Amino acid sequence: MFAVYVEKPNPVDPLSALVVGERPAPVAPPGWVRVRVQAASLNWHDLWTLRGLGGPNGRPEVFPMTLGSDGVGTLDDGTPVTLYPLMGDADWRGDETLDPRRTVLSEEVQGTFADFVVVPRRNAVPLPAAIPREAAAVLGATWLTAYRMLFTKARARPGQTILVQGASGGVSTALIQLGRAAGLQVWVTGRGATKRELAVRLGAQRTFESGETLPRPADAVFDLVGAATFSHSLKHVKTGGVVVLGGGASGFEGSLDIARVFIEQITVTGSFDGTLDEFYALLDFVADAGLVPYIGQVLPMERVAEGLRMMLEGRLAGKIVLARHASG
Ligand SMILES: NC(=O)c1ccc[n+]([C@@H]2O[C@H](COP(=O)([O-])OP(=O)(O)OC[C@H]3O[C@@H](n4cnc5c(N)ncnc54)[C@H](OP(=O)(O)O)[C@@H]3O)[C@@H](O)[C@H]2O)c1
Repeated sequence: MFAVYVEKPNPVDPLSALVVGERPAPVAPPGWVRVRVQAASLNWHDLWTLRGLGGPNGRPEVFPMTLGSDGVGTLDDGTPVTLYPLMGDADWRGDETLDPRRTVLSEEVQGTFADFVVVPRRNAVPLPAAIPREAAAVLGATWLTAYRMLFTKARARPGQTILVQGASGGVSTALIQLGRAAGLQVWVTGRGATKRELAVRLGAQRTFESGETLPRPADAVFDLVGAATFSHSLKHVKTGGVVVLGGGASGFEGSLDIARVFIEQITVTGSFDGTLDEFYALLDFVADAGLVPYIGQVLPMERVAEGLRMMLEGRLAGKIVLARHASG
């Protein structure tokens, strides 16, 4: 079958490790299902896999590995499904994100940039008819991350003001759309007018240049940018507020103003993907609110290298979805 995979990772030049070719079609073991992939989205995780850093330990023995940690498709009986990406210890109970043995699709189990993927039955979640198929490809990794950051980690409530660092990123655009739909006052920083305009189109009430001083502190700040924005995030959260860290698109280095954290009683917390319960709740919320996840660009899966290059060079505005099989 068609597959986009890594045979031998390259930590320095990740794109040179990309193979667009053929791999054996997977067979579903008992308790697993086969999904015919219709679309999947590009994530930073795919770049890490190309660099050989995927998985909890970056284990070399997992290669060759098919890329792709989210997606949408159909079961053999035609049921449309969207994929929940986390897997873990069969004996683990409770919050899947806390399982020390958790892995994400394409870390130990072959990923979704292929004609077919096989996953445990619970990971193939029925897709509500109200959510368009291609847009649903981004729900499992990007939108689930945003949902958990907003509603589980920050416990954001209607009427509160949130600050989202980064205007056009995948997780940022999800935070903006979800936050606005949930009745929050959504403030966004972004580099350049075009990116800030996108944030406004998606529901942001106010936007600021990256690094600009805000008129008042926010109840909660959501930071996927990391090194370039963390000190701004900490400075612009209110006393008793929360800074939720979800990534580091600009790097992971940073220093913490310890005095501010304890004197102003600020919570700094991390967030990783989400639970299966949160995924079902996200799907209900998206369907009920009539939300359509913003997609920046749809490319045929064969053109994956083009999309990855755009990601590496920061030339993105919203998610890139890779389309494979048409619906039906
Ligand atoms: N916690 C999780 O489970 C999880 C899930 C998905 C992703 N992530 C991580 O979250 C991060 C973002 O992922 P993504 O998919 O949203 O990436 P993306 O689509 O490439 O977006 C990157 C974002 O970072 C901003 N940015 C990058 N460099 C910046 C700089 N120097 N100064 C200010 N802003 C900068 C961009 O802002 P502009 O819009 O202004 O250009 C953009 O909003 C990555 O580190 C990824 O690994 C974590």
